[in-house]
Parts: sequence; C-alpha cells; structure tokens
Amino acid sequence: MRVTLLGFGVVARSFAEVVMSEGPKLAKEYGLKPKIVGIVDSHGAAFDKNGLDLAKALESKSKLGTLAGLDGSYHEGMDGVHAIRETECEVVVETTPTELKRGEPGLSHVKTAMIKGRHVVCTNKGPLAIAMPALIELAHHNEVVFKFSGTVGGGTPVLDFAKRCLEGSEIRGIRGILNGTSNYILTRMAAEGVSMKDALADAQRLGYAEADPTYDVEGLDTACKLVITSNYVLDSALSIKDVDIRGITKVTGADVADASSKGETIKLIGSVGSKAKVSPERVKLTHPLNVSGTFNAICFDTHPSGEVTLVGKGAGGPETATSVVRDLIDIRRAFAR
Ligand SMILES: NC(=O)c1ccc[n+]([C@@H]2O[C@H](COP(=O)([O-])OP(=O)(O)OC[C@H]3O[C@@H](n4cnc5c(N)ncnc54)[C@H](OP(=O)(O)O)[C@@H]3O)[C@@H](O)[C@H]2O)c1
Repeated sequence: MRVTLLGFGVVARSFAEVVMSEGPKLAKEYGLKPKIVGIVDSHGAAFDKNGLDLAKALESKSKLGTLAGLDGSYHEGMDGVHAIRETECEVVVETTPTELKRGEPGLSHVKTAMIKGRHVVCTNKGPLAIAMPALIELAHHNEVVFKFSGTVGGGTPVLDFAKRCLEGSEIRGIRGILNGTSNYILTRMAAEGVSMKDALADAQRLGYAEADPTYDVEGLDTACKLVITSNYVLDSALSIKDVDIRGITKVTGADVADASSKGETIKLIGSVGSKAKVSPERVKLTHPLNVSGTFNAICFDTHPSGEVTLVGKGAGGPETATSVVRDLIDIRRAFAR
C-alpha cells in the first residue's frame, strides 16, 4: 500500500516509527505493508515511487527541521495539493494542524486526494468540523474510503466502538470528556485547589496544552470532536457552527469547591441529545465520566442497555499513530473484499 503523508509532525513521525519498528508484524498479522512514497511538511515535499528512507526522513527533520536531507527526492516549497497531484499512491494520511475558520490546509488536501481517487486517513479535526457531510459525500462519489478515527479519542477507538460494538442498541445520547487539557486543569483545581492559571501553566510545561491553549479551554476542541462523533455515530449532519460552546475559563475555585462539598465535580462536557453543546457541568464523583488528568471518557446512552462508557488516553503521538494504523488496516480490508 503506497502512502503519502501530509504533515510530518508528532503524529506522522510516530507513525513512521511504527512502520519502521512494527513493519514485519503488521505485514504478518494484517497483511499491511505501508510504503511511504511521499512526505510533505510546511517547507516542502519529498517523494520517491520506490519508497522514501524513513530513518533518513526522521533524521533530516530532527537535524534540519525540514526534509532537505532526502537529497534528490526533495522539492523545496512544493505544497500539499501539488504533492498529492504529483504522487502515485493509494492512501493520503492528513496530519496537518487543526484550523477551524476554513479548515485549511487540511480541507484542500482531503478534497484533492479524494478527487484523485486516493483513500484518505485524517487525524486533523478541521476539515471534519467544517465540512464532514460534504467530505463523506465526496468520498462516496469518488468511491474511496475516508477514515478519521484519530480525530476523536486519539488512540482510543471511540468512533468504531460506538459504530460497531454498540450495533443493535439504539444510541439516544452522547456525553463526553473529550479534551485532555481542560480535564487536567479541572482535575488539579479540584484535587489540589490550584488556580486555573497555574494549572494551565503546568499543562503547557508538561506539553499537554498548546502554546495557544484557546482551542482547549474555550471548548472548541471538544466541539470538533462532538461534531465528528455525532455525525459518525448518530448520522447527524452537524458542523461546529451548530454547537453551543462554553469553555472552562469562567470556572472558579469556589465553583469547584462547592461541587466537591456536594459529592460532585466540574467537567467540560460535550453532549448531544436534543441539541449539541459544550459546557462545564457537574458530574457525580461516582459516575464513570469522573476520570482524572488527561484522560478522556465518553458515555453512550443506549437503549435497552443503558449507559456504556469508554475511557482512555485522548491524545499522544504514539497513541494517535495506532489510530492511523487501524484506519489503514480497515482500508486494506475494504480493498481485499
Ligand atoms: N498530537 C496528538 O496527540 C493528536 C491527537 C489527535 C489528533 N491530532 C491532530 O492531528 C494533527 C497532527 O497533529 P500533530 O501533533 O502531529 O501536529 P504537529 O506536530 O504540529 O505537526 C503538524 C505538521 O503539519 C505540517 N504542516 C503545517 N502546515 C502545513 C502545510 N500548509 N502543508 C503541509 N504541511 C504542513 C507541519 O510542518 P512543519 O513540520 O514544517 O512545521 C508539521 O509537520 C492535528 O490536526 C492535530 O489536531 C493530534
């Protein structure tokens, strides 16, 4: 399976490491033999129809910050759309940064790939938060597979858990803690009485939060994941504009202490029932959604089985790389049929 990587940051480099270290196992157990024929970052693109040297690509990125070390394969300044058009491959893996105004550059990458007849694996939430129904339609129209399990839950298989494992049950609602950074902040406020400002500074120091943590603490990241989960699991046609969004920035130490005195805690909850919303809500200390630190948890209200809750790490390079592998295995299975 020939693969082009759009973006070569934390997730894509972890995926490259998995391909190098787990290649024989993936081939033996799943028949999956990814050959990376293209890599694009913000500086340029490298491609080779015989497969790029991944060790060299990783070394070049860490030493030079670019793919220039790939010598004759490297095209400085070539952008993603151009590279997709130039490269013969079966799958494009999109891992550029999430951007929520226009969904770019990911949206153009995904569309170009589909129009070229490439299957797409996407960990970037931007294109889906903005245009998921249209992209699913485009994938159908071009008869390609579109997979995006890493967009929700990182390595924790939230989407396919709900879609496949809950088959036969009616899902009546979804409530989830979908952002590790805000959960880390609220957990520290509740457990240690630290201020939101200090907890956020610690989250940034530990690498959980971005330098600009707005997406996390204002609830936008949770809203993206809610849109994707609802559309995938409940067949809704939401975009991020349809979600009422309130983040955690107005939650005070006094609010957290008051909840605690009543056997409750405050969590940033994304929920879909009669409407889609993100807001800080009280959760009973005994409820399975009361997960601590950077963990994510999602609770499906099912009929007749009641609440089913999935808990796991919501992010991380190696974890999210496993979602890419999972999606590639699914694409291979679709081929094999
Ligand atoms: N990290 C996680 O745990 C995680 C979990 C789930 C989902 N995600 C999502 O997955 C995506 C990738 O995450 P990440 O942590 O790997 O991000 P990252 O480390 O910031 O990497 C982003 C990559 O995209 C490249 N890029 C930026 N603009 C580009 C452009 N216009 N054309 C081509 N490449 C471009 C960057 O190039 P340079 O290297 O040149 O800067 C970099 O290689 C994001 O959308 C993120 O929200 C991440």
